[in-house]
Amino acid sequence: MTEPRRATMILERDYRIGEIDDRLYGAFVEHLGRAVYGGIYEPGHPTADAAGFREDVAELVRELRVPIVRYPGGNFVSGYNWEDGVGPRERRPRRLDLAWRTIETNEVGVNEFVDWARKVNTEVMMAVNLGSRGIDAARNLVEYCNHPSGTYYSDLRRSHGYAEPHKIKVWCLGNEMDGPWQIGAKTAYEYGRAAQEAAKVMKWVDPTIELVVCGSSSSAMPTFAEWEAQVLDLTYEHVDYLSLHTYYGNRDNDTPNFLAWSLNMDSFIQSVAAICDYVKAKKRSKKTMYLSFDEWNVWYHSNEQDRQIEPWSTAPPLLEDIYNMEDALLVGCMLITLMRRSDRVKIACLAQLINVIAPIMTETGGRAWRQTIFYPFLHASLYGRGTALLPVVHSDKYDSKDFTDVPYLEAMAVLSRDEQELTIFAVNRDLKESMDFTCELRGLTGFAVQEHIVLEHDDLKAVNSAGNPNNVAPHARGSAAVEDGKVKAKLSKASWNVIRLVRAQQ
Ligand code: AHR
Repeated sequence: MTEPRRATMILERDYRIGEIDDRLYGAFVEHLGRAVYGGIYEPGHPTADAAGFREDVAELVRELRVPIVRYPGGNFVSGYNWEDGVGPRERRPRRLDLAWRTIETNEVGVNEFVDWARKVNTEVMMAVNLGSRGIDAARNLVEYCNHPSGTYYSDLRRSHGYAEPHKIKVWCLGNEMDGPWQIGAKTAYEYGRAAQEAAKVMKWVDPTIELVVCGSSSSAMPTFAEWEAQVLDLTYEHVDYLSLHTYYGNRDNDTPNFLAWSLNMDSFIQSVAAICDYVKAKKRSKKTMYLSFDEWNVWYHSNEQDRQIEPWSTAPPLLEDIYNMEDALLVGCMLITLMRRSDRVKIACLAQLINVIAPIMTETGGRAWRQTIFYPFLHASLYGRGTALLPVVHSDKYDSKDFTDVPYLEAMAVLSRDEQELTIFAVNRDLKESMDFTCELRGLTGFAVQEHIVLEHDDLKAVNSAGNPNNVAPHARGSAAVEDGKVKAKLSKASWNVIRLVRAQQ
C-alpha cells in the first residue's frame, strides 16, 4: 500500500499579506444575452417585484454578498449611449448592439441598475464608453449620476425621479480597448491619451471618484506589457487602478493542466504589478498603482453554441456556460490566487453574475439555481474577508502540458478583522488520491474547528441544472480537527475545502 500524499502549511499570526479589500469579491453584469433581460429583470416573472426585478435572482445575489458589480459592459459599453437608457421608457430607442449582434431595448438603464444594486446590497462600478464616444459622454454621465443638483445633467436625473445623487465611486475608463473586436479599438497611445483626458475631466466633475484604466484584454495579447507601460505612462497620476482580464478553458480535456491555469493568473498579476512599479520608478512617483481584476472566470463551454445563434434577437442565450465540478476547482484556485495577491489586487469581478458565464442560472419564466462555481465564490465572499495571512505551504508537485511544479495543494488563510475566526481555503488538485493535510498554527491560540466544508463529486464533469440543482453541492462532513496546535484534515481527491476555525471563549 502506498503512503497517502501529505501537505503542510504554517500560519503565523504576525506574518501577514495585508487587509483584503472586500471588493475582491465583486462581480459583473453586462447587457449581454440573458444577464439583464431574463436574468436580473423580467417583469411578468412570478417572483418579479413592482419594478420587474426577479426576487428569486436577487435572493441568490444577496446570498453571495457581492460588494460591487461592474456595469454595463464589457464589449457592450464601447457602443453604448447611456442617455438611451434614462427617462421615460416609452421614449427609449431600440438599438443594434454591434458587440454581441443583438437588439438592446434599453428597458433597463443606469437608474434601474442602481435601484437593483440597492435591492441586492451592492455598489455599482460604472464603465464609460471610450470606444464610439469619449470625454463628453463620460463627464456628462458622472454629472448625471453624482452631481447633487442645479446643473443640466443633475437636474435631468432629478426629473427622472432620482432626487439624490447615486454617488457611484468606481468608474472604468472603457473596456478592453486593445482588442480588435472592440468598437473603437485603439493603439496604446490613442487609448492612453483618451483615458488621460477623460480621467482628468471626470475627476473635475467629482474628485471623490476612483478610476480604473484598461490594461490588456489578456496576457496573450501581442501588445501585452508594452500596452500597460505606455497607457500608464500617460495616465499614472490620473487613475487609481489598472485592469486585468482572464478566462480559462479545458478545451482539450486535460484536467491536471486545466487546474494549473491559476498559476498563469498568479504570474499575470505579478507581471502587471512589476510594470506598474516600473512606471512608478520612471516617474519618481510616490503613488502605488493598484489592480482591478475586473473580469475573471472559466469560459469555453458555450463557444460552439454561441456560433449557432441568429443575430439581431433580444436577449438570446449567449455565453451560457454550464459549469461542472472541475470548473469549481479552478475557480477555487483562482480565488485563492486573488487572496494571495490581495496586497495589490483591490477589486476583482467574477465575470459574470447571472446566466452569462455565471454562478447563477435562470429559466426565463421559470426557476433559478446555483451553478457549481457558485460555491467557492460564496465561501470566499463569506469567509475570505479580513487579513490575508502569509502561508508557508509544502506540497508535492506535478508537471502538466503547460506548467511545471504545480503544487497538488493550493491553500490560503484569512483571519477575520476581530481575530476570532480563521478560515483555511484549500484545493486538492490530485485527481486520484486524498491528501493528509496539517497546518501548524503559530501565535494563533485557542482555535477549534467550527466547520469543514467540502465540495467534491465522483464525476468531475457533474453539473447542476434546473431539475437537479443540488447535484454538486457542498457538505460539512470534512474531517478537520485541531490537535496540539495543529489543524489536521484529510482533503478528498479533487476537492474544494473551507476549514472554519473559531476562537473558543477565553
Ligand atoms: O465577459 C464577457 C466579455 O469578455 C466582455 O464583454 C469582454 O470585456 C470580454 O472579452
